[in-house]
Amino acid sequence: MSNVRPESMARIETKELADQFIAEQVALVREQVGDKKVLLALSGGVDSSVVAALLIKAIGKQLICVHVNHGLMRKGESEEVIKIFRDGLDANLVYIDATDRFLDKLAGIDNPEQKRKIIGNEFIVVFDEEAKKLTDVDFLAQGTIYPDILESDGVKAHHNVGGLPEDMQFELVEPIKLLYKDEVRVVGKALGLPTNMVDRQPFPGPGLGVRCLGAITRDRLHALREADAILREEFDNAGLSQHVWQYFIAVPDFKSVGVKNSKRYEGWPAIIRAVNTVDAMSATIEEIPYSVLHKITDRITNEVDGINRVLYDLTPKPIGTIEWE
Ligand code: XMP
Repeated sequence: MSNVRPESMARIETKELADQFIAEQVALVREQVGDKKVLLALSGGVDSSVVAALLIKAIGKQLICVHVNHGLMRKGESEEVIKIFRDGLDANLVYIDATDRFLDKLAGIDNPEQKRKIIGNEFIVVFDEEAKKLTDVDFLAQGTIYPDILESDGVKAHHNVGGLPEDMQFELVEPIKLLYKDEVRVVGKALGLPTNMVDRQPFPGPGLGVRCLGAITRDRLHALREADAILREEFDNAGLSQHVWQYFIAVPDFKSVGVKNSKRYEGWPAIIRAVNTVDAMSATIEEIPYSVLHKITDRITNEVDGINRVLYDLTPKPIGTIEWE
């Protein structure tokens, strides 16, 4: 398949067009792969999930999905990958809990670029180790989408986790590489993936690693994960999740003085970020109702150990980037 989207290719906006695309790709993948095995790094993000579901439909257990939990996933995320793919779709899924490996490597590292590099490199090492254990795998599937191909020409090189070693001797299977993101979502829905997975907000490859600011510690990472889960739950309850593009918590590595149960209580602040954007190059701030902000503040400060303040970041991009690191 060429890397250029033909002008005649219709935009996949309906279930019918998605079904047609799926049928074509299933046939193409079967023809390419034959009875050989295919390996896929399944993060649980939209793109790799859609590729997984498509390949399961085409070649069933010839697809080996590897889900690496780097310990920087959001609350419940790895469990959901297992539930949907292993339990729901009967996928051949290898789950690797590499939390300790990643967090040990990251201990004491406060430079954001270095943190990203460590996470990206360790991902390759873990995935490569797993690939070496498997014999007779000839193909590597990837969730490359059309913007990845367009963007690799210059402007934005997002050092993504999931970039794989160049010396891997695999032929690539990239069934969605000519699709735009909205089309990937339509195809995902037609494949029967749950809406919350297909419509989910962007989540950076290095995960909570770029939101647990400075040198990551397990206690602060835990607080961040719990606070983030509360934010997501309350955004769902308030009907905000459908129209806010990206929202999350960042937790910096300093404490302030507070008071809890009449005692001095030093804790970290939880910073809410909630932005709207079209292309992530610029972003505006969502006007969250105060009642929702109060509810979130109450819950986070009462339910999350180590957090004693909640702040709302009002900075658009530019000048602030969406992520804090
Ligand atoms: P910034 O912070 O640059 O983020 O305004 C723009 C968008 O990109 C996401 N982002 C990343 N995604 N790997 C990714 O896959 C990364 O290293 C990374 N850094 C930022 C960010 O969440 C936002 O949607």
